[in-house]
Amino acid sequence: MKYKFPKNFWWGAATSGPQSEGRFNKKHSSIFDYWYDIEPTAFYDQVGPNIASNFYNSYEEDLKMMKSIGLNSFRTSIQWTRLIKNFETAEVDEDGVNFYNNVINQCVELGMIPIINLHHFDLPIELYEKYGGWESKHVVELFAKFAKKCFQLYGDRVKYWTTFNEPIVIVQGQYLSQFHYPNLVNGKKAMQVAYNLNLASAKAIEEFRKGKYNKDGKIGIVLNLTPAYPRTQSKDDLEAADIANMIDNRIFLDTAVLGKYPEGLTQMLEKDGVIWEYTEDEIKLLQNNKVDFLGVNFYQPLRVKKRENKFDDSKGWLPDKYYESYEKPGRRINPDKNWEIYPEAMYDIAINIRDNYENIPWYVSENGMGVHGEEKFMDENGMVVDDYRIQFITEHLQFLHKGIEEGSNCFGYHLWTPIDCWSWKNAYRNRYGLISLDLPSQTKTIKKSGYWFKEAAENNGF
Ligand code: BG6
Repeated sequence: MKYKFPKNFWWGAATSGPQSEGRFNKKHSSIFDYWYDIEPTAFYDQVGPNIASNFYNSYEEDLKMMKSIGLNSFRTSIQWTRLIKNFETAEVDEDGVNFYNNVINQCVELGMIPIINLHHFDLPIELYEKYGGWESKHVVELFAKFAKKCFQLYGDRVKYWTTFNEPIVIVQGQYLSQFHYPNLVNGKKAMQVAYNLNLASAKAIEEFRKGKYNKDGKIGIVLNLTPAYPRTQSKDDLEAADIANMIDNRIFLDTAVLGKYPEGLTQMLEKDGVIWEYTEDEIKLLQNNKVDFLGVNFYQPLRVKKRENKFDDSKGWLPDKYYESYEKPGRRINPDKNWEIYPEAMYDIAINIRDNYENIPWYVSENGMGVHGEEKFMDENGMVVDDYRIQFITEHLQFLHKGIEEGSNCFGYHLWTPIDCWSWKNAYRNRYGLISLDLPSQTKTIKKSGYWFKEAAENNGF
């Protein structure tokens, strides 16, 4: 075998509560549930989160199917809007408690390590309407209460927790680029939200460590990381990449792993009059509550150049003031997402973590390829023959392997996603799973990549 991975390597896949469960029996709505209710046309084919992949009802068969394709670990998230009845007191909803108990117990029984995430873009709409959601430090407190409740309920069996999935996407989606409700464009609020999300993560970590719920328990965060690649090595392009890197990656990465913000970032935000409100006690809290491990989502590289078109400041301060994105000529792309395919970044990420982030233990918490119209690749038995996905996974694993060989402390690889799931505004347009979903009948069928993955998992390499 050419590519052998470290002992106990995680071969798994990730989804989230709001994208797989469906809204069955949920007593509250998240911002996405609400947005779909008021504007279904904002979603591809007008398909919303109501049924999703029916995991709420079919989790038993689904988990068995995941086990059958060799997954030794599985990440999902607990929906705040399912578990909690009263957000202020964190009083629970019994049906929600039982559902997650059953999912976690079954994972453990099947021998699949559950990795439980606490927030995957699914802010309760009530908390947005009452308090402005993540703009509010009261919501930070409520999140810490919710997190504590999760640790109390499931911490005896769950050894790996993550506080947030891709917090920068919340900032971008809700406050900068208009793809999460309420679709605002407000750079100053965006920066406060980024700060509050870091604070919420640190408070949840503090709760976790106070409780000692499991002697092997570990807590981390999932970040979508990619080094910002400059167009050229010119001073201006390098500077643009440096700023993009601080705003898109390091704003969460440095804080989570090193316990502090990059100095260049806070100086720049202060100079621009958009620095967040903070207290000295909060800064100490961030310093004292660093993560134990990191989950890294990687889909596409970030390529930037110095700003060439004049920045339109009619909407006030925005990070785009400092850089523009750049399309590398001749790049390989996935045409269905228009995303560049650049597996080499896996190695760069591994080395960056090794050299600049204390070689903290980390795993690839998402990587994957979203493809539209996969039914056209089905064979006569209904199996999607997704050789493109096998190729995609193989290449990314090869570069990851090189990073591990050179000492990066990576302990696993999770594909997005085990079973095709609902993808926010894109709904079911692009499919990512190792298992396909026929939406009308909710039939689930293993794809060719699922069989490939099983073999790789069983051999711990390929
Ligand atoms: C990640 C998210 O950014 O990308 C997932 O964590 C998401 O929730 C996935 O579904 C795929 O992106 P998209 O835009 O195709 O849904």
